[in-house]
Amino acid sequence: MRFAEHWMGCTIASTRDVTPGIREITLTPDAPVAPYPLGSHINVSLLIDGQPQTRSYSLVGERNSDQLRIAVRLAPDSRGGSRAMWNLNTGARLEISSPSSLYDIDWTRQTYCLIAGGIGITPITGIAHALNLRDGIEVQLHYAVKSRRDAAYLDELSEWLGDRLTVHAGNEGARLDLAATFASLPADAIAILCGPMRMLEAARRAWNDAGRKPSDLRYETFGSSGLLPTAEFRVRLKSSGAELVVPQNRSMLAALNDAGFEVMSDCERGECGVCAIDVVALDGEIDHRDVFFSDHQKQGNAKICPCVSRVLGTVTVDTQYQPDAI
Ligand code: FES
Repeated sequence: MRFAEHWMGCTIASTRDVTPGIREITLTPDAPVAPYPLGSHINVSLLIDGQPQTRSYSLVGERNSDQLRIAVRLAPDSRGGSRAMWNLNTGARLEISSPSSLYDIDWTRQTYCLIAGGIGITPITGIAHALNLRDGIEVQLHYAVKSRRDAAYLDELSEWLGDRLTVHAGNEGARLDLAATFASLPADAIAILCGPMRMLEAARRAWNDAGRKPSDLRYETFGSSGLLPTAEFRVRLKSSGAELVVPQNRSMLAALNDAGFEVMSDCERGECGVCAIDVVALDGEIDHRDVFFSDHQKQGNAKICPCVSRVLGTVTVDTQYQPDAI
């Protein structure tokens, strides 16, 4: 059960491949969207293997109320959302949510350090573009990719930022040194990051180790990127002893709700904590894919955010669900 959000219809205006594995999809909403913060994402309603599901995609580039651009990386081992998106053609109809952002960017700073990992470049493009238009500020973008061939929007970013863009291509041995990057920033700097979970966790550690204010590191996540493989697992309900299987292509939240064990949710990206439920027993390992819980809380395995987190093995949970409660 998700908190209310505003949905609207849209049509796919065009598609183009911006790298061999990343497809940009331009959407024309049925009515112009209200002004939205840069770095926003939209939720897209999709039928995946016959089941209605929702996926989140960040908006690319400058703010535009008439056309929304998203970019989808084809991920063969994912839960099926990217495959479904790649199968859509120009003219297809979709339901999308209004754009919203969790970045809450402070635009009054003098120094901005932008960091993107892979497809995490998408929300960063609009922010980079806006910062590039402002005078008297420092901005740098660190873009970590496997290879330059996998780097979407490199031409635009190079044009805007010139030598303020650094590409860290893994196949060139150019790794991003977060500690050194953060150490070189002035005290008022803010870092804005989007990348996979491993990068986010490393950045949070490096940011804290550098003695910087946690609130000066702003980030969004890929809700589906974890540290362990995405595989089917079992969930037992403490209240009833019922057991259900979470398929590889479904979230634990969706599986619980499908089975009638209602769990409240909001962001469904592992960021708000609304969906958190108690872990009663664990036979296996939890892959905490949220950014809501601290490292310490994750190690404790007392709670799990079922919208994104997964398990290798079997987990017993208490959803506090009471079907007869008034
Ligand atoms: S709904 Fe926000 S963390 Fe799960």
